[in-house]
Amino acid sequence: MEKKIPQHISVIMDGNGRWAKEKGKARVFGHRNGVKAVREITEACAEVGVKYLTLYAFSTENWGRPSFEVNALMGLLVETLKAEIATLNKNNIRLKAIGDLTGLPPKTYKALLQGMEDTAANNHMTLVLALNYSSRWDITNAVRRIAEECNSGALDYSEITADTISQYLSTADIPDPELVIRSSGEQRLSNFLLWESAYSEFYFTPVYWPDFTKAHLHEAIASFQNRDRRFGKV
Ligand code: IPE
Ligand code: IPE
Ligand code: MG
Repeated sequence: MEKKIPQHISVIMDGNGRWAKEKGKARVFGHRNGVKAVREITEACAEVGVKYLTLYAFSTENWGRPSFEVNALMGLLVETLKAEIATLNKNNIRLKAIGDLTGLPPKTYKALLQGMEDTAANNHMTLVLALNYSSRWDITNAVRRIAEECNSGALDYSEITADTISQYLSTADIPDPELVIRSSGEQRLSNFLLWESAYSEFYFTPVYWPDFTKAHLHEAIASFQNRDRRFGKV
């Protein structure tokens, strides 16, 4: 079988809180250590030739967490973005984001825009952060915008295809993920890339996100390479 590297891998980074709890530490300690795994997996993906890596970093539903934790996550994001831009540039990695970005705290939004601007010319790999993201938000937003286009006469409703819908999602210029990884033993999508992962391969691992290493990434890719992707055919 051909050993193909997925063009796009997306990751539901889960288990930071449980990782910390097992160590008798606060959840935020888990998030801090989760950043190390982000660094390691970004590097690993760039090394093997993945073109897009999407990381689910903060869901729309995550606003429901205690404000202390939400604030810590947003702060950590600003800190990490600022610290990692140089490395992203060194490794020729472009930063992108999907989600309702205007709903982020101003400092986070600003750091994100700066990071995207500073790395815009890079072309080895695209690192996509899903922030204040949920798939149902994205699809709802797309439907609203398509309806507006129909109203204004720019689009005829009879011409709407699956591709039209894809084009109005925040993932419009990103290919669908071939491989979706979720850490921490949970086996659900939690509102992540519902439309885009229609034909993705899924890889679930019990490893908590802060413990996720390059070797785990390589294992996930190896598992992907042994799958028979039939796309409804025989
Ligand atoms: C994933 O780890 C990080 C985010 C959702 C931001 P969790 O914080 O969900 O960790 P668990 O699932 O509670 O262990
Ligand atoms: C999914 O993890 C969201 C992110 C990884 C950012 P959660 O921990 O929020 O998901 P549930 O609540 O277990 O479904
Ligand atoms: Mg979780």
